[in-house]
Amino acid sequence: MADDLQTITGHRGLVMEEPLIFEQDAPGRTAVDLPEPPDVADRLGSAVREGPIGLPGLSEPQVIRHYLRLSQKNFSIDAGMYPLGSCTMKHNPRINEKLARLPGLAGIHPLQPQSTVQGAFELMAVTAEWLTTLTGMAGVAMSPAAGAHGELTGLMTIRAALEAAGNARKRVLVPESAHGTNPASAHMCGYSVESIPADERGRVDLAAFKENLTDDVAAIMITNPNTCGLFENEIIQIAEAAHAVGAYVYCDGANFNAIVGRVRPGDLGIDCMHLNLHKTFSTPHGGGGPGAGPVVLSEALMPFAPLPYVIREGEGFRLVEHAEDGDGAPYGRMKGFHGQFGVFVRALAYMMSMGADGLRQASSDAVLNANYLLARLSDLLTLPFPGPCMHEVLFDDHFLHGTGVTTLDFAKAMIDEGFHPMTMYFPLVVHGALLMEPTETESKETLDQFIMTIRSLAERARDGEVDHFKQAPRLTPWRRLDETTAARSPVLRWRPDLPQAAE
Ligand SMILES: Cc1ncc(COP(=O)(O)O)c(C=O)c1O
Repeated sequence: MADDLQTITGHRGLVMEEPLIFEQDAPGRTAVDLPEPPDVADRLGSAVREGPIGLPGLSEPQVIRHYLRLSQKNFSIDAGMYPLGSCTMKHNPRINEKLARLPGLAGIHPLQPQSTVQGAFELMAVTAEWLTTLTGMAGVAMSPAAGAHGELTGLMTIRAALEAAGNARKRVLVPESAHGTNPASAHMCGYSVESIPADERGRVDLAAFKENLTDDVAAIMITNPNTCGLFENEIIQIAEAAHAVGAYVYCDGANFNAIVGRVRPGDLGIDCMHLNLHKTFSTPHGGGGPGAGPVVLSEALMPFAPLPYVIREGEGFRLVEHAEDGDGAPYGRMKGFHGQFGVFVRALAYMMSMGADGLRQASSDAVLNANYLLARLSDLLTLPFPGPCMHEVLFDDHFLHGTGVTTLDFAKAMIDEGFHPMTMYFPLVVHGALLMEPTETESKETLDQFIMTIRSLAERARDGEVDHFKQAPRLTPWRRLDETTAARSPVLRWRPDLPQAAE
């Protein structure tokens, strides 16, 4: 069995079943030794509890091992390469975490008097200045909590501007190569969404776009670089055509990590764009957050930005929280309080520690790494669109045709080799998509190991080793979760009472 499970890179994963902390309970055991609190009865009155409170009894090493083992059951960027296209799973420098945990930043409360949090406001204002400088835009709404939330914010801002001009429009054009959240956000904002096809180069079909561009279009939402990992190099013509009919250009800037320090979206005719701080500016994400999706805005859209926002006033800063205190803000707030403050701290720490030259180097390296994968894999895997690519490389499943192995099987087999799979079946413009985003933080050695693994798997698929793929993953605590049987890892030995994989 052990030999059978040996994999190409030798990775085996931590596959033991972990009992619940309550199942490890030994009554009376404890990790802390607290003194009897004096005179509590007087203070607690009728709230005093006399029976046991039902917490499990464990020693400190048991607690540490329990949580450490749980943490190792999930794949993480700290454990290995995580080339999940469109998600920018790169290393999060620990300096960001250290700064975000400074008591003066982590311990403040959003309802504190403004005079006591001037430093926090300054931090928000400086972060905003970095973002507007890097994007070449007039201002930024900091409060949106994630990319998709930023999209909704941007569209609501555009809608407010159009309504103020007495020209509410109904349609939003979304290219096929845009991120999936774009049509969802436009629909949520009440627009009818129309799809613009991609051309044979994987970019917006300019002729089809112009054909659909009438004076009832509120905006085009264009992802640039797009989800095929390609730069929309006709963006200036697209923006000019949109502006000519009075429409706005919304850019999904979640992939800004590919161009930061090289291109300023404001120079390309973009009116409004969200940034995923949790991707480009390296704050931890995945598994639900936290993130932040500030929206940079043109001069014309600034009066329609949401509340609240920080302004410089005299020697200090003021948070504008009510429409009557400042200009505009026709639709109020998008979120409670001021936004994801902890993420602002991490993003600013990242930007300041990298510096302008470091950010430019990071985007160059992200693009270089993706093109390295493209160059070393495209003789074996199939490229739907010719390169070079930007920060991610897209393959389709033609190379698997006739093998009986699907994109899903291929991805599952990668897990046993110690790599998180790439993004699968997205974008939808190609069949069986495999979208790989190595990011700039992977070394050449890791990329070479990844390439070797992918090449070896592709050859095994061609050689007819279908079973190897259909059985994968075999080294994880759980096998395929979408399978009908509760097939647990065959090396799950610790809890023989639990159902084992039928092999
Ligand atoms: C291109 C693009 N747009 C939008 C989003 C949505 O961002 P979020 O998940 O923060 O809502 C993502 C997510 O990674 C993305 O890659």
